[in-house]
Amino acid sequence: MNSKAAITGVYGYVPDYILTNAELEKMVDTSDEWITSRTGIKERHILKGEGLGTSHMAAKAVEGLLTKTGTAPEEVELLICATTTPDYVFPSTANLICDMTGIRAVGSFDIQAACSGFLYALTIGSQFIETGKYKKVVVVGADKMSAIVDYTDRTTCVLFGDGAGAVLLEANTEGNGIYDSIIRSDGAGQNHLVQKAGGSRYPPTHETIDKRWHYVYQDGPSVFKFAVKNMADVSAEIMERNHLTGSDVAWLVPHQANKRIIEATANRMGLGMDRVMLNIHKYGNTTAATIPLCLFDYEPVLKKGDNLILAAFGGGFTWGAVYLKWAI
Ligand code: ACO
Repeated sequence: MNSKAAITGVYGYVPDYILTNAELEKMVDTSDEWITSRTGIKERHILKGEGLGTSHMAAKAVEGLLTKTGTAPEEVELLICATTTPDYVFPSTANLICDMTGIRAVGSFDIQAACSGFLYALTIGSQFIETGKYKKVVVVGADKMSAIVDYTDRTTCVLFGDGAGAVLLEANTEGNGIYDSIIRSDGAGQNHLVQKAGGSRYPPTHETIDKRWHYVYQDGPSVFKFAVKNMADVSAEIMERNHLTGSDVAWLVPHQANKRIIEATANRMGLGMDRVMLNIHKYGNTTAATIPLCLFDYEPVLKKGDNLILAAFGGGFTWGAVYLKWAI
């Protein structure tokens, strides 16, 4: 049997500080009832501390991963970090993570596909394993959304949290691992979900700060409609082309942006919510970290050979799905 790229270890990290709905009620005109019923979120973790960026959380996740899997830093041959909140425009956050974890002289780079970033990075990383080019690849999803969220804007600040998750990819010859992947994008969605200033089109100026363009702007209802359709469509598509029905799928591992979007996707796939990974109530939307954090939280109940569908959508727009058989 041909070898497949398989996830052979997973680890997650969220910072200690918990921002509750009750605290948000004191910051903006909102309520625990509204946030819970419209999104499913109760708490999110926030990274506090001078000079700490996304790489801080990502390095914690990678360190945990290496220890847990008994992998020496020198064995890692490639590290890819999916993030929308890099520490710097350059060097890459992947580069910084390698430095912080003792991974040296290997290729490392960032992937930016907003909330679909982890699926993009997983798809890319798995190619290096499938071709036999590398034996051990680390894929990280990490975001410090609190750095770009406007805590005076109730329509976005209740949604996001900070966190990181990392997986180790290795070859598997037992028939487990990644079977299929779909990644898609449509730039027509660029104005619905965007951090307008800080890049080369609108470098930061006093004016861009005054206009609050350095924060996330989201047209929530448009993104919601897009997400419900495309996350459900892409999940159904990957099932169909792999001849899977709802009863074949052990778990849906969805991007955690809104519980109602997740429910609509599960419904379309013919899955009960008892087979859907859900941790949005604890972490909110951690962007590229949601899917590896789900895998980390649910690892104790996963069985070798379980069919998993990973699905995500995000700014851009971007979206995608991965079908894999759990290998651990
Ligand atoms: N508290 C109280 N009221 C609020 C809040 C809040 N936190 N936020 C918005 N409202 C109000 C609105 O102002 C609006 O009031 P109005 O009717 O007087 O104008 C009302 O609630 C309804 O607002 P909607 O935006 O229509 O509510 P909706 O049901 O669409 O829920 C939400 C809003 C939760 C943002 C939803 O649209 C959503 O989840 N969108 C998708 C978010 C997402 O998935 N983002 C993508 C990933 S992020 C990434 O890629 C980086």
